[in-house]
Amino acid sequence: MDISGASAIVTGGASGLGEATAKLLAERGARVVIADLDRQEEKAKDVVATTGGLFAPCDVTDPDQVIAAVEAAKELGPLRVLVNCAGIGWPQRTIGKDGQYTSAHDLDIFTKVIQINLIGRSTASASPPPRSARPSRSTSSVSGARSSTRRRSPPTTARSVRPRTPRRRPASSG
Ligand SMILES: NC(=O)c1ccc[n+]([C@@H]2O[C@H](COP(=O)([O-])OP(=O)(O)OC[C@H]3O[C@@H](n4cnc5c(N)ncnc54)[C@H](O)[C@@H]3O)[C@@H](O)[C@H]2O)c1
Repeated sequence: MDISGASAIVTGGASGLGEATAKLLAERGARVVIADLDRQEEKAKDVVATTGGLFAPCDVTDPDQVIAAVEAAKELGPLRVLVNCAGIGWPQRTIGKDGQYTSAHDLDIFTKVIQINLIGRSTASASPPPRSARPSRSTSSVSGARSSTRRRSPPTTARSVRPRTPRRRPASSG
């Protein structure tokens, strides 16, 4: 996939996997929007200094902020790539060693992780740019980004696109 001149959004792009992904996409010619939390502005600006593009303050659990990032990306070029790297998470015991309810996994924390890592990913992927600018790839890892900017999709066989016709039931005899 040729992404040169296209715009790309990397959620969580100020740090870690997102930062590495943003740098890779920029190396391949994309104009990258770093969509990360407001409080990451300083780190995001360091990434933007290397990659070009811009920082869009964005909490992926807030659809309005995601849409603002999409709009910012459209200003940079046709939006073709979305990589979801925004994420949190840490290991926690389901049940504490003491077996008490009070030391069990905190459900509020788990809910927050799900909101960012799962629902946030969907929010970003579902934010609808105009059809012509819809990202043609959405992935969640640097290896996914690497492969989708290098490899062409395998040719689609006629078999895989043929609509399935429902099997006819044998006519009942009575
Ligand atoms: N680094 C790894 O090897 C690895 C391996 C497997 C899974 N993961 C998971 O991938 C995710 C990213 O890992 P990382 O190492 O890059 O972490 P990281 O902390 O370095 O980067 C995560 C980025 O996401 C941003 N972020 C967090 N919540 C956000 C929100 N609501 N909206 C927008 N941005 C938000 C953070 O500000 C940060 O910049 C995490 O969920 C992590 O558990 C990481």
